[in-house]
Amino acid sequence: MSGGDEHKTEFVPGLSTPIGTRRTFFRWVTTLAAGMIGIGLAVPLIGYVISPALKRREQQWVEVGRPGDLPVGIPTQLDYVQTVRDGWMENRLHKAVWAIKQPEGQVVVFSPMCPHLGCGYRWEDGEHKFKCPCHGSVYDVEGKVLAGPAPRRLDVLPSKIEDGKLFVIYKEFKSGLREAVEL
Ligand code: FES
Repeated sequence: MSGGDEHKTEFVPGLSTPIGTRRTFFRWVTTLAAGMIGIGLAVPLIGYVISPALKRREQQWVEVGRPGDLPVGIPTQLDYVQTVRDGWMENRLHKAVWAIKQPEGQVVVFSPMCPHLGCGYRWEDGEHKFKCPCHGSVYDVEGKVLAGPAPRRLDVLPSKIEDGKLFVIYKEFKSGLREAVEL
């Protein structure tokens, strides 16, 4: 019998319903039930697998040092190390932020990325300026632009002092814009 014969309506004596119609009906019900079970399993599974990847990276206060150890008015590079979980993966995010202790004791912390195109810049002690090697932007100790193509001042990171320790939240900002827009 060819596959096309299956769909022929066939009457069997003693049964009031055509068998082909009944078979087709049961096949549809089975397919529909299997599909619904499949969807029921797939939706939570997809959510479980994909949602951690879509979640925005959690922002944490990370201890970066002790303000008591910082010189007043001289930028110091401090290590920022954060443990980042992406689904089942656990990675360590390493950054080096710039911290400047103010005469009154507070600390201002700058993002290590030049707001022009994101290069790392450095502090030139002799010149008392921050300089970016990529395109020549220059900033003063307060982060204000002195020269070069930088469209805005250095980006300030949230920081706080608790129990004699300095905590920072690391953020990244879009480069090339006049305003600091967080990524
Ligand atoms: S990235 Fe710093 S001046 Fe261009």
